Amino acid sequence: MKFRVTFHRVVAWWLGIFSILTILSGYAASRKWFTNREFMVDAHIVLKWSFVVLFLIHIIYTLAFVRIGKAIRRNPGKHKVRVVQGVSKWLVLAFGFLIILTGFSQYEWTGAVFHKWLPFWVHKVFDVGLTISIIVHTMAGVKIISKRNKIEKVWIDVLIWIVGIALMAGIIFLEVTMNLS
Ligand code: HEM
Ligand code: HEM
Repeated sequence: MKFRVTFHRVVAWWLGIFSILTILSGYAASRKWFTNREFMVDAHIVLKWSFVVLFLIHIIYTLAFVRIGKAIRRNPGKHKVRVVQGVSKWLVLAFGFLIILTGFSQYEWTGAVFHKWLPFWVHKVFDVGLTISIIVHTMAGVKIISKRNKIEKVWIDVLIWIVGIALMAGIIFLEVTMNLS
């Protein structure tokens, strides 16, 4: 396999791992899951840089090299998972930049400008949109891997649905029990 393709896949899956860590550390900080809240805030601030770097590499790579749009547009019924991956990628892109930019309202050096236009409550409300679109996008990635490796089994599809729905239900639960203060 070409180095370029391997690199792209490795970046995509590490991005998945750092998304989980960044999101979990964000919730751990805001929901005070641990007594040392400051540590979780610091962990979140550090982890998000790995997220941002991998996110940008993944976006630049897919915009520059991935050309799968035409085949999908010609026959969307045959490429349902690709359609899901394609739609979710735009949602991740939009929510991703919104969450990163609203994060900057927390810094002293950027806070004055960002607080006015992108207040921090947006970070705590629209994070659910980012998380759900990442889950959908990544679950589509898992399905594509199973196709690529010709291990298409019903139980794999069932597992993808169960894990996806359980993760989304968990995030929605966290959001509805949110304290905006
Ligand atoms: C946190 C955000 C994201 C995560 C965790 C993520 C993760 C993934 C994963 C795991 C795959 C499957 C890789 C594989 O086939 O082995 C993938 C594919 C893809 N992603 Fe993302 N992604 C994210 C954001 C985005 C964004 C913002 C875009 C838009 C530019 C995008 C565009 C794509 C495309 C076009 C593919 C298909 C590439 C291919 O089949 O070669 N992704 N992504
Ligand atoms: C400049 C970047 C960022 C900064 C400075 C930042 C800062 C913070 C801080 C301080 C909190 C805790 C809020 C509180 O306790 O009131 C938080 C929460 C959170 N952050 Fe970030 N963050 C950034 C980027 C990100 C990114 C890229 C993601 C997602 C991948 C993310 C996801 C979250 C989540 C899910 C929460 C929990 C919000 C809630 O309780 O609903 N953050 N962020």
